[in-house]
Amino acid sequence: MSLIAGSASAVGPDLRATLLPAELVSLFDDRFVASCDFIEEYVFRLALGIVRELEFERLLAKGVTVEEIVASVDLDPTAAAPLVDWLLRLLAERGVIARGQGSPSRFRGNGDLPVLDPAEIEQAQAAHDPAALPAFRLAALAAEGYLRVMRGEAAGESVLFGADQIAAWFEYFSNQNPLYAVSNDIGARAVLARLPRPRGKILEIGGGAGSGALALFDRFAAAGALERIESYRFTELSPLFLRRGQRALASRPDLRDRLTHACLDIDRPFDEAGIKPASLAVVYGVNTLHVARDLAFTLHEIRTALMPGGVLVASECVRPFPGRTVYVEFVFALLEPFRAPVLHPVWRPNGGFLTPEQWFAAFRAAGFAEPFVWPDIPRIRERYPAFVVAAVGAARP
Ligand SMILES: C[S@@+](CC[C@H](N)C(=O)[O-])C[C@H]1O[C@@H](n2cnc3c(N)ncnc32)[C@H](O)[C@@H]1O
Repeated sequence: MSLIAGSASAVGPDLRATLLPAELVSLFDDRFVASCDFIEEYVFRLALGIVRELEFERLLAKGVTVEEIVASVDLDPTAAAPLVDWLLRLLAERGVIARGQGSPSRFRGNGDLPVLDPAEIEQAQAAHDPAALPAFRLAALAAEGYLRVMRGEAAGESVLFGADQIAAWFEYFSNQNPLYAVSNDIGARAVLARLPRPRGKILEIGGGAGSGALALFDRFAAAGALERIESYRFTELSPLFLRRGQRALASRPDLRDRLTHACLDIDRPFDEAGIKPASLAVVYGVNTLHVARDLAFTLHEIRTALMPGGVLVASECVRPFPGRTVYVEFVFALLEPFRAPVLHPVWRPNGGFLTPEQWFAAFRAAGFAEPFVWPDIPRIRERYPAFVVAAVGAARP
């Protein structure tokens, strides 16, 4: 196993203490990194299994584009093309097939695809750190539905959010799950460092089951800074998640007077949720902003809601290089809003996660200033290309 998941260049000196801010080094300890390695390997093996089931290995043998595969294997072109593309890019990154330079890419097999059992890796994770298993369960759930979504027989939403699956999501969006908690931790630290002094009002978007808010309260409490939160408006689109989040936040009676909850759709004008212009010190979200159907619209709403000097902080999975896969996409790419937002040629060329440069360009286009990415992925990615978690954001001038 490599030092950081999926990284061929991870063989070499350990530069974590050099490349990461001191306060983050302990988050990326060997235990966490090994769990990243396991989940990446697990997703790779699931992806191999799906490609094999689709039976286009014979096409790969002579070289084939995504469009040609979709047409010849009888898949739903709209749903299947981005999914097939993602699976093949992953297989190419892992060296089991080759990707041509042209556009569109032509993928070619390097002989038979390896037969690798995902269950082996899940067992290894269970022995290493069972707390991270919720990420494996979600990936397995997605894998079960891939063929149905690609054939147009089911929507990703029904595959991932059926009544039987909700518990798996609550286990995943949790501070007990180290593979998710890292985003909450980085986000909370980024807000603590940027909340304008002395106090300020915070709006959380896409607050889900509340693990991001709880991590933030814990971080502020540990720093003796809870009083700096003038008010915290916890919002979410899904009524089910909102109720769950409200219940989770009830565990913080010390904040009761400052906490409010509301349904807020980041694709709709924020004033519909009672958000007043220039009223907020921080707009915060954990892995929510990239879901915006039209990122320019949502950034405009956020900028309007922030007071001058106010800050947007989004803890996000960040794509280190354009076109490179991020393992979490294996699950979320099943969802149409994730894979098919409104595109922009420069900063939103594709659905899913954005690179630091795309975030910066999007922030600037929306009239924000002082964009940041923390930790500094552009510095980290050459050495650790699988490092994909960071807080990105910018200030309202
Ligand atoms: C990655 S989850 C955040 C999880 C959360 N941090 C937690 O602790 O549970 C992203 C959240 O965004 C929500 N979401 C999706 N589309 C949205 C929209 N248009 N407006 C607001 N929230 C949305 C989802 O329901 C989900 O709860």
